Order: sequence, then C-alpha cells, then structure tokens
Amino acid sequence: MTEQPHVHPVRDDIAANAWVDNAKYLAMYQQSVDDPEGFWAEQAKRLDWIKAPTRAKNTSFARDNVDIRWYEDGTLNVSANCLDRHLETRGDKPAIIWEGDDPNESKTLTYRELHARTCQLANAMKELGVKKGDVVTLYMPMIPEAAMAMLACARLGAIHSVVFGGFSPDALAQRVIDAESKLIITADESVRGGKQVPLKDNVDAALTRKGAEVAESVLVVKRTGGDIDWHEGRDVWFHERVDGQSTDCPAEEMNAEDPLFILYTSGSTGTPKGLKHTTGGYLTYAAMTHQYVFDYHDGEVYWCTADVGWVTGHSYIVYGPLANGAITLMFEGVPSYPTHGRMGEIVDKHNVSILYTAPTAVRALMAHGDDVMASSKRDSLRLLGSVGEPINPEAWEWFYRVIGNSQCPIVDTWWQTETGGIMISPLPGATELKPGSATRPFFGVRPALVDNEGHLLEGATDGNLVILDSWPGQARSIWGNHERFVQTYFSTYDNMYFTGDGCRRDEDGYYWITGRVDDVLNVSGHRMGTAEIESSLVAHDAVAEAAVVGFPHDIKGQGIYIYVTLNDGIDPSDELKKELTQWVRKDIGPIASPDVIQWAPGLPKTRSGKIMRRILRKIAANETDGLGDTSTLADPSVVDELIANRATH
Ligand code: WT7
Repeated sequence: MTEQPHVHPVRDDIAANAWVDNAKYLAMYQQSVDDPEGFWAEQAKRLDWIKAPTRAKNTSFARDNVDIRWYEDGTLNVSANCLDRHLETRGDKPAIIWEGDDPNESKTLTYRELHARTCQLANAMKELGVKKGDVVTLYMPMIPEAAMAMLACARLGAIHSVVFGGFSPDALAQRVIDAESKLIITADESVRGGKQVPLKDNVDAALTRKGAEVAESVLVVKRTGGDIDWHEGRDVWFHERVDGQSTDCPAEEMNAEDPLFILYTSGSTGTPKGLKHTTGGYLTYAAMTHQYVFDYHDGEVYWCTADVGWVTGHSYIVYGPLANGAITLMFEGVPSYPTHGRMGEIVDKHNVSILYTAPTAVRALMAHGDDVMASSKRDSLRLLGSVGEPINPEAWEWFYRVIGNSQCPIVDTWWQTETGGIMISPLPGATELKPGSATRPFFGVRPALVDNEGHLLEGATDGNLVILDSWPGQARSIWGNHERFVQTYFSTYDNMYFTGDGCRRDEDGYYWITGRVDDVLNVSGHRMGTAEIESSLVAHDAVAEAAVVGFPHDIKGQGIYIYVTLNDGIDPSDELKKELTQWVRKDIGPIASPDVIQWAPGLPKTRSGKIMRRILRKIAANETDGLGDTSTLADPSVVDELIANRATH
C-alpha cells in the first residue's frame, strides 16, 4: 500500500491572480478533448502568422500511417515570433538575463539587442552558405550566443541540432554525420564550476571521424580566450564574422510543418535518434504551456536551470519564454559553485519569481542540510518547478520548505524530448499538490494506462503510460528514419503513443510516474540507453560481454551498474575498472560514468541467449530476496556467483 501523501491545497493568493483556477482548468480541459480542432485553432492565435492556418489538426497514430500535422497550411517564422513582434511593446525590456559561471559576471540583453544580434548572426550564417533546410549543429556553452544561434537558424529556416556540451567528440561526430550538418557553432571553451571544457578541441577531434567532413565550417565564439588549434579555411571567429553584419535580416516564411530542430535522445536500442520537431505546433505548445504551467505574468524573472542541450532548454529557456515576451534567465555554471548556496544567491541577485529545476539538483543540495540555503532569502520566489525524473516526496518537501520558504507551489512537470512540451503537470492556481505526483494532464493531452497487452485500464491502477491522441508539440518523426519512429512509439500498442514510462493513477485521477519500463536509464535527469553503454564497453579489447542496468541512487535518482565479462586470459583488477570507466566517459561523455562495475564470469541468460536484466537489476539494487523464477536460465548457478560477489556502492 502506498502511504497517503501530504496534500498541499491551492494557495488563495496564487489562485486569485492565476491565469487558470480549478473551475477554468476543468472547463478548458473538457473543451480541449471534446473539440481539439476548435480549441487548438483558437490557441494558434497566440502566435503571429504570416498566413493564418485554416485547419488545426490532421493527425493519425495508425501504425501503417503515422502522420502528424498541425496547422499545416499556416506559415510563420519562429524567430519573428520570439523577437520582432515584441520590439514595439517591450523592445527595451530584458529578454535574457545571463549569469556567468563566475558570480561577478552577468549581463542583460533586451529584446532589441537580442533581435539585432540574432539578425547579425543570421546574416553571417548566410555568408557561410547556410540555407533554408540545412542542419546547423550547436555545441555551445550556456551563453546568450547559444540562444541567438537557435533563433538565427529559425530566422533562416535552417534546422538546428543542439548537442549537449558534455558529450564526447565521438557522440558529437555521430550526430553531425547523422544530420549531415554543414556548419557547427561552438566556443573555444566553456566554463562550468571554475573549470574549462575544451569545446573547440572536441569539435576538432569529432571532425577527424570518417563522414564528419560534411561539416564545412566551424564558427567559434571566443568565450575564454584559451588556446585552441585553428583550421584555416574551415574555422571562423564569431566576433570577426558576426559583429560587422547588418542588424536587419528578413525572417524566412516557413510552413507550420517545416522542421525547426532535431534533438538527439537515447532509446532502449540502437544509436541516439534525432527527434524532429516542427514549427507552428511546437511553438504554440511551448508558449502555451510556459504561460499556464508557470503561470507566467509580464515582467517576472523566470529561471530554468536546464542546459540548452536538452529539450527543457529548447522549450523552456528559449522558445516558450521568448514567444511569451518573458524574461528568461540563463545560467552558465553549476549549482555547487563557488558554493552550494549559489542557486539561492542567483535568485536574490536577479529577483527570480519562478525557478524550474531538477530533482537531482534538489537532492544534491538537500544532502548538505538546510543551512546550505542560508546565504540567500529567496523571498522573490513565487513558484517552483521540477522536471526530468520522478521527485521523491522527501526531496519535494525539502524543495518546498527550504528553497521555497513554504510559500511556493511546486509544479512537477512530466514530459519528454518526444513530447516537445509539458504533458502532465499541476497548474499553480488550479491543482492541489501531492508530493511525488505530476498530477493531471495539460490541455489537449489524453493520457491513459494500458496493460502489457494494450488493454485500457480504468480507475486507480498501475500500467504503462500511453497518450491516446496527438498534441501540437509532438515530435513528427525521427530524422531520416520514419520507420524507426513508428516502430519505437506506435507499434507497441495500436493507435497509441507509447511513452516508455510506467505510471500509477490514483483515486483522484492523479498520475504518478514510476520510471522507465524499457532499457533506458535516467541518471541525474539525463537519459541514456543501456545498449549504448554496453556497445561502448564491448568495443574495449578486454571485454567479452557487458550488461548495464540502473540502480536506485540517492542523488542521481539512478546510478549506472555494469556487469562485465572479460575475455579469456584477462585478469580483473581495479586498474582495469578505472580504465573501463575512462573508456566510457571518453566514448559517450562524463554523464555516462559508471558508478559500479562488477566482474561477471557469466551473465544470467535464457536458453535462447537473452540476458535477463530483471535479475541483474535486482542484484544491483541489493534486492536478492525476490529474484523470482530463475529456472528458465541456461545456467542458474551464475546468479549465485553474482550475488556472492556483488559490488558495493
Ligand atoms: C523521461 C524523458 C522532459 C524534459 C527532461 C527529460 C522522465 C521527465 C519527469 C517527471 C517523472 C519524469 C520520464 C520520461 N521524466 N520528467 N516530472 N516525473 N519522470 O526529457 O530526456 O526526453 O526524458 O524523463 O521517464 O520518459 P528526456
């Protein structure tokens, strides 16, 4: 039985000024599912269209015809919607407040400045040969140039593919090649927690990989002035090429269904897939969710602590907030530098009203005790948000009490790279909060739970989370591989989008995400496929076989536990463990660092050779009492050996 959660009622002061109270939520939700066409046609009006769409929805989830189109005869430009249309009303108001890694460094860009710089960059990109439909890869620090680069692509109708700056050269190369990207925008180095990360060196290394020569130019922001190699004819300094350009650049007229960006994410099998997001529906959805979920009001400072390398940064640092004319804070550093009080100090320094962060960050601070927030007051905060993984009720309550001074509702927002925007979340003026629950669906979202055979489950129950109908922010395809898109999301259950998450629905209809039901890990809110880590390991000479599972980790949510079978004649040693750890870090990136490596003379397999991960997960979690039926294993004694030699963590 699950314990009764401590319910937090809607605060009167929030409800009184909120965009939506509970009655309005219920009415609007009903309308959104009864008449999606009418509802979404109305919502499209929040954008400036060049040609207004005459039809909102044209979507099919049928396995033999997965086809998702929103506003398909409308035309618009995303950059014009995020910049130009605000110039008259709020040209001199802040668009981006940038806070550097170094607490003494910050600056503000107004909408007018951001517009001018974006136009200059777009003009420079044109000179470098970028045209509508080209893919531009961004591998950047958290600096305003990252947002400008995204908006400049959108302005030209180029498609950006942002690769998180923590990924390795190989991971970057893989993405450049898959997208056939002609231009890379990067910086000499990024700075995080007082340390430099050699972005440009990584780009250089990536571009030596076979196939990566598709990238003809590299535009380099000088962030630190650190030493870098220079490839004449390929590398271009950002300041030399951009600063002298005209601050005027016409915005390309784009169809609503033209691609806006590709974003790579991990699945349970294969290489990372480039989810394709398009223009009109995506922006409508990002803007609308940003307004309602964060109950955003004009003039408020809003801070999302994500990196632009993840979808959260796309939708809730750049596109949603800027489409709404909001003030979005962008932070270059990490919450623990120079001290663990940094987040609170930034809130005070910039008068932040809305703070959207990740459970892993909350738990990392919580581990230092309540005093960790003593250097700040945080009394400007009105609302808190959580994203990326389930937030355990203890962390929720600490977030509420210590960071939010028991004054701020928390919106626990469930969504995915694939969904483009928030899908299940409280609305602060409408929803009673239950710590640990993402609560109720956003407008137009029809979640459901199914059993493993795809039968719809009613009432309070556990099941696999599916979505029954399309919403405008949904990814349209996987770049270059629509069949994989269909296979991954629409083939498990007929006519439903399968999220890959398990979920419980309680007696009030609240949703409680329980985590992935596939072989995808969520480590500190970063998504990783076990198959990717395994294939990295088996590429090492010493390794015969590897199996990767997640295990519960106090701060990261999930840790990475690796079982390795060595090749004949190779001796296990601590040095080899270190070497394998470095190997994976170098191959994928530091976010894939193994937490535990256990030598496994054999792995538990069925007679047909399939590794039984269920058993490996239990051993990693030290739940060896309930291993279930092991009689179907080819060699059940393997399990006893693994339990006896379980690695500690
Ligand atoms: C997976 C998606 C959405 C932006 C960041 C992650 C997990 C995400 C929550 C939440 C429980 C969550 C799910 C989902 N997840 N938010 N509020 N509660 N789980 O995007 O990398 O595409 O990962 O993150 O398992 O499937 P992503």
